[in-house]
Amino acid sequence: MGAAMGSDSLSVTDNRTGKTYELPIEDGTVRAMDLRQIKVDEDEFGMLAYDPAFTNTASCRSSITYIDGAAGVLEHRGYSIEQLCERSSFLEVAYLLIFGELPTGPQLDRWVFDITHHTFVHEDLKHFFEGFRYDAHPMGMLLAGVGALSTFYPDAKQIDDEEERYMAAVRLIAKVPTLAAFSYRHNMGLPYVYPDNDLSFAENFLAMMFKKTEMQYRPDSRLAKALDVLFILHADHEQNCSTSAVRGVGSSGVDPYSAVAAGVAALYGPLHGGANEAVLRMLRRIESPDNIPDFLARVKDREEKLMGFGHRVYKNYDPRARIIQQHMDEVFEATEYNPLVEIARELEKRALDDEYFTSRKLYPNVDFYSGIIYEALEIPTNMFTVIFAIPRTAGWIAQWMELQEDPETKIARPRQIYTGEREREYVALADRDGPEKIGGPPAKRPKRPRRGA
Ligand code: ACO
Repeated sequence: MGAAMGSDSLSVTDNRTGKTYELPIEDGTVRAMDLRQIKVDEDEFGMLAYDPAFTNTASCRSSITYIDGAAGVLEHRGYSIEQLCERSSFLEVAYLLIFGELPTGPQLDRWVFDITHHTFVHEDLKHFFEGFRYDAHPMGMLLAGVGALSTFYPDAKQIDDEEERYMAAVRLIAKVPTLAAFSYRHNMGLPYVYPDNDLSFAENFLAMMFKKTEMQYRPDSRLAKALDVLFILHADHEQNCSTSAVRGVGSSGVDPYSAVAAGVAALYGPLHGGANEAVLRMLRRIESPDNIPDFLARVKDREEKLMGFGHRVYKNYDPRARIIQQHMDEVFEATEYNPLVEIARELEKRALDDEYFTSRKLYPNVDFYSGIIYEALEIPTNMFTVIFAIPRTAGWIAQWMELQEDPETKIARPRQIYTGEREREYVALADRDGPEKIGGPPAKRPKRPRRGA
């Protein structure tokens, strides 16, 4: 007998045995562990769910970020991204993500004070950065720097201590911009610039990037505002690749600096943090608005991809792309004219007028315009992902804290479907036979070109 219609359960019939199981449905999900009871023989392990890349598996309960991809909605702790970008600063949003509520005036003052007064990194960390090659990728430097922070704050290992967690959150949000700017200055062969406590979070970052000989570097307020909005837009995006990495590594009980370093590593990958750079390359290749029809024809022939369009979750206009657009005019008023903007706007207009793209629900995503703004701020492309990591640190730490407080947290340990050999007879070295080579480096290794000194 099946369960009554309307009950919150899923009836599953195992056709191997004819047995039917009732799996409770909660929040639109079934527990994968409930599949374990499904077996042919009593001594079998039981059924597993197979879900490479976790495309249909909820790995946690979270109350931080809500996304409705079909409707193009993004909310943090219930507040829409539109309201947050219009009315909050990035540090206010970071507080909201971590503590669950918008701060009161005194709470915000204390939070901003604490972040502002933890922006310096230990001089030894500066020396550590000096050991990198002059052309080291800044994201590799940031990754190492965040990992190294754990050695400067060994007390952060006490992950059950609320005060230690708070200090780790403050230090990470405060110091990641310093490390990010140091990595850029190292690449440029410029002296590192120490933080300036009189500046806002975004202003201070721009000062650490671009200060030369002036007594105080004060960036154009329109640029600092645009950067602050970009920081808000990138602060969290629920269980994406890097956030899952932070949670997965954090589930081992490691300190939060090491867990966040795992997030930086995941973000380093081109499939995660690198699309805005690809958009710039595409716009440069298009060269002029006159070439857009040809380019779109090539996209439809599948010879090209319209970079910055489409999203795994958003099947509507990415709300973040719309907000960025609103700040573009101000940015370009304050900076030199960039002809790529015209190409981007025309490209967007034509694609949105075209049934090929609308029928596939392909709309601009956050990366369609973010690269152009970074370029206008004179930030080189190899820094784009580093800039992404600055605000995302707030999301990573919020998710890490939520993980610590979740009673269902266990060390993350997926299962596998084993496809290899079993129970082979061991063969002594002298008796082994087979092709000359299995695996290992190619017989003739191509010479790696040497770069620089
Ligand atoms: N240009 C042209 N066609 C596209 C694009 C695109 N950018 N994106 C998807 N399509 C087409 C696909 O070919 C497919 O067409 P078909 O049904 O005729 O075969 C259809 O649209 C559906 O696409 P999927 O591949 O199923 O979409 P999916 O959700 O798997 O991919 C992704 C999403 C990877 C983001 C994809 O849209 C893409 O590659 N976009 C360009 C890269 C980009 O901008 N990435 C940044 C994402 S934002 C972020 O990560 C912060």
